[in-house]
Amino acid sequence: MSRIVYVNGQYLPETEAKISIFDRGFLMADGVYEVTSVLDGKLLDFAGHSVRLARSLKELDIATPCSDDELLAIHRELVARNEVVDGMVYLQVTRGNPGDRDFAFPGADVKPTLVMFTQSKPGMADSAQAKTGIKVISIEDIRWGRRDIKTVQLLYPSMGKMMAKKAGADDAWMVEDGHVTEGTSNNAYIVKNGRIITRQLSHDILHGITRAAVLRFAAEAQMEVEERPFTIEEAKAADEAFYTSASAFVMPVVEVDEAAIGTGKPGPVATRLREIYLEESRKTAI
Ligand code: PDD
Repeated sequence: MSRIVYVNGQYLPETEAKISIFDRGFLMADGVYEVTSVLDGKLLDFAGHSVRLARSLKELDIATPCSDDELLAIHRELVARNEVVDGMVYLQVTRGNPGDRDFAFPGADVKPTLVMFTQSKPGMADSAQAKTGIKVISIEDIRWGRRDIKTVQLLYPSMGKMMAKKAGADDAWMVEDGHVTEGTSNNAYIVKNGRIITRQLSHDILHGITRAAVLRFAAEAQMEVEERPFTIEEAKAADEAFYTSASAFVMPVVEVDEAAIGTGKPGPVATRLREIYLEESRKTAI
């Protein structure tokens, strides 16, 4: 089935959707994005994603393309038109099309580009990988210094995924100054003696919406949480590890750089947090 996508005010078949070759998203990676999960046809944590989108736009001085209510309406319309039960809605805002290539930002007369599309992933909450866990390798984090802004500059994370695949693993955890920053498209955690350890928020990592929810649920379940950087050596010696993202929820990590973590199987903390996250997020989905 051909998808119906959204481009600057229009719902179109994906084959008819067009963006200018001068769009700054295309020429300069001058844009930001959000990925919101859909379960049972409902959006998970839409409010969190729209707040982060507003922040990303503000940090880059890109105009807001429409109100939160309009954004929500477009999300819902796309989910309905494409009959998405489980999956994601991808949203991208760029600085728009100035009609030529120029490093300087265009004036306010150039409107931002807003593109949205759905990705259907039937049964995504029952992922087989969540039952076995995934393997990561460590790679140097050579990204820019504002990883808290969710930009579309995803070349290095893509390269990281390919490095992982080549090494027979599933993903890469990035390391800077000897400490893990985050995964290529997720936030990273280890568990030691029942304590959940994850890097604190700063410009070094994306402020994950799933991270915020999972840490809140962990605190509510009386689990201990310590927000600080950790090393790959600590990850190898941990009892368990996992990552979080809107598309994978809570994903157990069972191997890092070919060393098994804990028993080499998904641990109880990651497994329980995944259950709680899915249960609680479904309750508040809209
Ligand atoms: N990625 N860190 C990075 C670098 C990410 O790209 C993501 C999300 C996260 C987790 O954030 P959240 O919990 O808000 O999804 C952390 C999305 C899913 C993606 O690029 O597809």
